[in-house]
Amino acid sequence: MTLHQPVMLQEVVEALKPEDNATFIDATFGRGGYTGRILDDAQCHVMAIDRDPDAITAAQPMIAKYAPRLTLAEGPFSQLADMAQAKGIGLVDGVVFDLGLSSPQLDEAERGFSFRHDGPLDMRMEKSGPDAADFINDASETEIARVIWEYGEERASRRIARAIVRARSEAPITRTKQLAAIIHSVMPRPKPGQIDPATRSFQGIRIHINGELDEIEQALDAAEQQLKPGGRLVVVSFHSLEDRIVKNFMIKRSGQGPRPSRHLPDVETDAPTFTLPKRKPIAPSDDEIQSNPRARSAKLRVVIRTDAASSKAAAIENKESA
Ligand SMILES: C[S@@+](CC[C@H](N)C(=O)[O-])C[C@H]1O[C@@H](n2cnc3c(N)ncnc32)[C@H](O)[C@@H]1O
Repeated sequence: MTLHQPVMLQEVVEALKPEDNATFIDATFGRGGYTGRILDDAQCHVMAIDRDPDAITAAQPMIAKYAPRLTLAEGPFSQLADMAQAKGIGLVDGVVFDLGLSSPQLDEAERGFSFRHDGPLDMRMEKSGPDAADFINDASETEIARVIWEYGEERASRRIARAIVRARSEAPITRTKQLAAIIHSVMPRPKPGQIDPATRSFQGIRIHINGELDEIEQALDAAEQQLKPGGRLVVVSFHSLEDRIVKNFMIKRSGQGPRPSRHLPDVETDAPTFTLPKRKPIAPSDDEIQSNPRARSAKLRVVIRTDAASSKAAAIENKESA
């Protein structure tokens, strides 16, 4: 059984500052590395969310250990405000996200996330709904190219999409290694030290199947709604598409974005909902990168909630007073 080694655990806990009687949301429970440490550090409460039913099943021993301080919720983190309400949890002192996949998800061939193990072309975190094989066998060539380009940042997206459509006209594409071989067949052999040529395409398809970027955008808004004044929002991201969304959100909501042109009429802007202690992300230590290569691309960003109304609440108020 694969374990998940939590990334930047010490830095996350230092950023969240767990205290007795506080309440936190761990929006990406995984195998509970962050949750367990938060609950060990203080007599606090954690609501832990994961959309993967396997993560919820694996959490049972932790429930036994930490109940009643641990509340588990299965579902997408974009819904975290509604989930908290449904569990009777009010505003919270911190929300943490550790984006992407856990090691068990990546390492279990049956989940179909990785081309390093042969498995069904699945890639669904939720284990329900259309899977990667449905997409690869049914979508148009243009749509496949768009997904690989936009979410995989793969420059050879059109060439790869063409090869996929050609291959599927002969036989359905149902296995991860089968898809990887199709991609490899139209890509140059990687030089030593370069990533596998299928990496970006697999990332793009996975992000698309799970709606990952929309999830993050909605979840940041939901976290803003759910945090108390002084509450901390802590996000660990692993690739540039995720980090860009997080960074732009944090800069904008802390009022640090570009000023509107002085030639434009004055517009009333909402008060900042966060303060941003550091513009630059925190990176993992060299020691951590050595002992856990998965940490290599991690970036941790933190903002602290002000007492201004959340952007959603402000929008409703502005609409009502218009
Ligand atoms: C990197 S792992 C988290 C690992 C965790 N911090 C630990 O220490 O064990 C990310 C987890 O978040 C979950 N996840 C990713 N996107 C999600 C979403 N939109 N809603 C809910 N859970 C999500 C995944 O299923 C996965 O279990």
